Amino acid sequence: MNNQIIKRSPSNIAIVKYWGKHGTQLPNNPSISFTLSNCFTETKITYSENESMSLEFYFEGKENPAFKAKIEKYLNENRRYFSFLNNLDLKIESYNSFPHSSGIASSASSMSALIMCLLEIKYKDAKIDLREASYLSRLASGSAARSVYPTMTLWGKTPSLPDSSDEYAIPIGEMINPVFKTYHDSILIVSSKEKSVSSRAGHSLMDNHPMAKNRYATARKNTEDLLTILKQGDLEGFIRITESEANQLHDLMSTSTPSYTLKEPNTIRIIDEILNFRKDTGLPVCYTLDAGPNVHLLYPDSCSKEIHTFIEETLKNYCFDNKYIDDIVSSNN
Ligand code: PMV
Repeated sequence: MNNQIIKRSPSNIAIVKYWGKHGTQLPNNPSISFTLSNCFTETKITYSENESMSLEFYFEGKENPAFKAKIEKYLNENRRYFSFLNNLDLKIESYNSFPHSSGIASSASSMSALIMCLLEIKYKDAKIDLREASYLSRLASGSAARSVYPTMTLWGKTPSLPDSSDEYAIPIGEMINPVFKTYHDSILIVSSKEKSVSSRAGHSLMDNHPMAKNRYATARKNTEDLLTILKQGDLEGFIRITESEANQLHDLMSTSTPSYTLKEPNTIRIIDEILNFRKDTGLPVCYTLDAGPNVHLLYPDSCSKEIHTFIEETLKNYCFDNKYIDDIVSSNN
């Protein structure tokens, strides 16, 4: 008899960035992210008993050998956690809510959605342990560790939160000021091209980076400062750390050996427009960047009307095909 499981898991956007790792996907500094709502992966697993394990993988309706190989590698390397799959035929079908050509990285949502499905097979009707889900997601893709909780998440050991760990993320939504639960993330699509340097390669360029020590110390301090800022509802502090983290991430790329840049001319133009708009209006809007050229515009719900006019009248013109995606911090996964 065939059984079926369907799970959704969202993407997340880091405010303090994870960039540089060691051991088995352990971060060199803690990171903090918003969990999103509209950008998610939905994964369906149909399974039935057999004498050994087999795997089929479909992405958006088509067989995808590259992704299948990635999942097989992950399951082989982490066999000890997945013995419950040994006698199952698995058919995995995965869809992203965001267009393939949007340039949005999907590893966080896709790997966490997969792990949530696998754990549902393990636990059946019992509740999934989200810490275990975060741990296993981390082993697949570092930032996926943060996608299993709603609202806001911290991954990595930091002194003021004794419960924090490099091995899994913890939810911090309960301790933040309500204003941050109203945040929007409008993702301005500057380019839909595949990244010229993968995150995996970027992380490894941190190993011999001349600024690595300084970066990790700054990120540790930014994490502690941001936790206070989030509790206090300090929007100016939030803007300062968010933009500084985005700029540092891209500065690290341009000062790596070999050096590279993922920003495009319109990334810079959009950032300039945002800074001028903030100066002119005094509205608490800011930007962050992931490992790519797209700009994430972050703002509280209280100014969403003005920001939408700004996007429609100005920012959209710098976007590829005038494309942007309106997202919002998740209150629930
Ligand atoms: O999870 P990875 O290995 O794809 O690394 C993600 C790194 C950044 O997206 C640039 C930052 C972050 O913390 O999400």
